[in-house]
Amino acid sequence: MLSSLVWTLALLTRLAWAAATNHSAPTPPSQDPWYTAPYNFESAEPGQILRVRNAPGNLTDLYSNASTAYNILFRTTNSHYQPAWAVTTVFVPKAFNSSRFLSYQTPYDTADLDASPSYALYGRDYTPVRPGSIGFEIGTSLSRGWYVSVPDYEGPLASFALGVTEGHATLDSIRASLTMFEGWGLSKDPKVALWGYSNGAQTSEFALELQVQYAPELQIAGAALGGIPNSLYTVAKYTASGTMFAALLPGGLLGLTSQDQEARNYLLSQLSPTGQYNASTFLRAFNLSQYQAIPFYAFQDIFKYFKDGSAVLQDPRIQKLFYRETIAGYHGTPQVPLYIYKAVHDDVGPINDTDELVARYCGVGVNIQYEKNTLGKHLDETANGEQGALTFLSSVLGGSYNHTGCTTRYVSINATAGA
Ligand SMILES: *[C@@H]1O[C@H](CO)[C@@H](O)[C@H](O)[C@H]1NC(C)=O
Ligand SMILES: *[C@@H]1O[C@H](CO)[C@@H](O)[C@H](O)[C@H]1NC(C)=O
Ligand SMILES: *[C@@H]1O[C@H](CO)[C@@H](O)[C@H](O)[C@H]1NC(C)=O
Ligand SMILES: *[C@@H]1O[C@H](CO)[C@@H](O)[C@H](O)[C@H]1NC(C)=O
Ligand SMILES: *[C@@H]1O[C@H](CO)[C@@H](O)[C@H](O)[C@H]1NC(C)=O
Ligand SMILES: *[C@@H]1O[C@H](CO)[C@@H](O)[C@H](O)[C@H]1NC(C)=O
Ligand SMILES: *[C@@H]1O[C@H](CO)[C@@H](O)[C@H](O)[C@H]1NC(C)=O
Ligand SMILES: *[C@@H]1O[C@H](CO)[C@@H](O)[C@H](O)[C@H]1NC(C)=O
Ligand SMILES: *[C@@H]1O[C@H](CO)[C@@H](O)[C@H](O)[C@H]1NC(C)=O
Repeated sequence: MLSSLVWTLALLTRLAWAAATNHSAPTPPSQDPWYTAPYNFESAEPGQILRVRNAPGNLTDLYSNASTAYNILFRTTNSHYQPAWAVTTVFVPKAFNSSRFLSYQTPYDTADLDASPSYALYGRDYTPVRPGSIGFEIGTSLSRGWYVSVPDYEGPLASFALGVTEGHATLDSIRASLTMFEGWGLSKDPKVALWGYSNGAQTSEFALELQVQYAPELQIAGAALGGIPNSLYTVAKYTASGTMFAALLPGGLLGLTSQDQEARNYLLSQLSPTGQYNASTFLRAFNLSQYQAIPFYAFQDIFKYFKDGSAVLQDPRIQKLFYRETIAGYHGTPQVPLYIYKAVHDDVGPINDTDELVARYCGVGVNIQYEKNTLGKHLDETANGEQGALTFLSSVLGGSYNHTGCTTRYVSINATAGA
């Protein structure tokens, strides 16, 4: 009942909003009442549209290859398989008649709700247009005539690292976007692809492994997955002590426990109240985007915040979440062509985990091109792998992709050297 009403409203009102620019200034999600679910949203179907608005401000000023941008709030499913909601921002390309749709998962890697892309898209961290940047990738995709959806896949609890929540939200953001735009600038049955780097790749991978059960009706042409970390537990062991990426653990543990009060209570009980490495410094991660958190925690030993050091990771309440929510390939097997690219010397997630994942998927017939770059590390690969990803995406979205089976290739690409 409510569902069909919401549906009808969305379809009727989208036309009225077609040409409108929203002059309201963007407001942080934690303070913007638009970011709330309507009464009885639980009875809507996963992926159903609950609210739509023209993105506030003039987002096309910042992403000039878009003609308009919308926010869609839609029903999804959380990590307890209960009804939840999330938001996506959809950019409409200037080429109005398109048959191509990209779901672009940004690695926002934070437990701070106000760093969600629908708001962060306006900020200086997203807008610089240089290879490897989010602004560049959105702009380039739009200039190719693709619709680009950028989901707040962590949802309203900023559930960083809860792969089930992130994967479901990604699938439902695609469902909601297609409902809104199919037949309205976007052709019927458009080609759909996913792209993500780092946790954006992990999230895309989770979406694909959950899709088989959760959204089997979606036709997905392929996914480009860059710098996939594979498992937060491994990432924690790799980065938490004295590396530039130490911030991934505070944000990761807060996100991981965002839907599990028992695990959250345990986590909080383990933090030291006093000293240089105290609870309040750890909990600053609730209020830091990754662009702030990385310098804030860089080169610290995050285990010093805990009474028993790294033993916190071994607790069964935390281990359960690491397994269920952060290990790629735990819930299913992607059924779409994959382009996987990663630096051999990736310093966030070790390449051998990715080798193992690729071998496992190849063994059950997944179509994979795996490119291992001998040059650069995790951050370098955002730019180094970008052209390969765009080539793959153009090919799957254009319907000309003809690779079959599994291919692993070493490449030596330094995008900086070529520039
Ligand atoms: C413009 O944005 C504000 C919030 O920033 C929202 O309340 C309003 O509904 C939006 N207007 C349109 C026409 O989408
Ligand atoms: C929004 O920005 C675009 C690009 O700069 C500009 O052409 C347009 O006039 C702006 N719209 C409004 C209503 O300010
Ligand atoms: C839209 O594009 C399709 C092919 O992509 C073409 O068949 C159709 O005629 C186009 N429609 C308009 C209105 O240009
Ligand atoms: C828009 O597209 C053009 C043409 O592809 C490209 O040169 C430009 O950099 C893009 N602009 C942005 C802001 O991405
Ligand atoms: C917590 O640590 C910060 C530095 O990280 C320090 O400034 C603050 O005084 C400490 N608080 C307590 C209660 O020890
Ligand atoms: C984060 O910021 C909000 C307001 O912006 C504040 O209410 C909250 O206490 C802060 N949390 C932490 C852990 O600093
Ligand atoms: C990757 O290498 C590390 C360190 O050599 C090892 O501990 C880990 O088990 C390996 N992972 C896989 C999946 O082989
Ligand atoms: C596959 O696609 C590539 C690139 O578009 C093309 O060069 C090649 O001829 C195609 N191969 C087959 C067998 O169609
Ligand atoms: C890539 O090229 C730049 C510019 O020549 C150089 O500074 C950098 O060290 C190179 N990186 C790698 C990993 O070879």
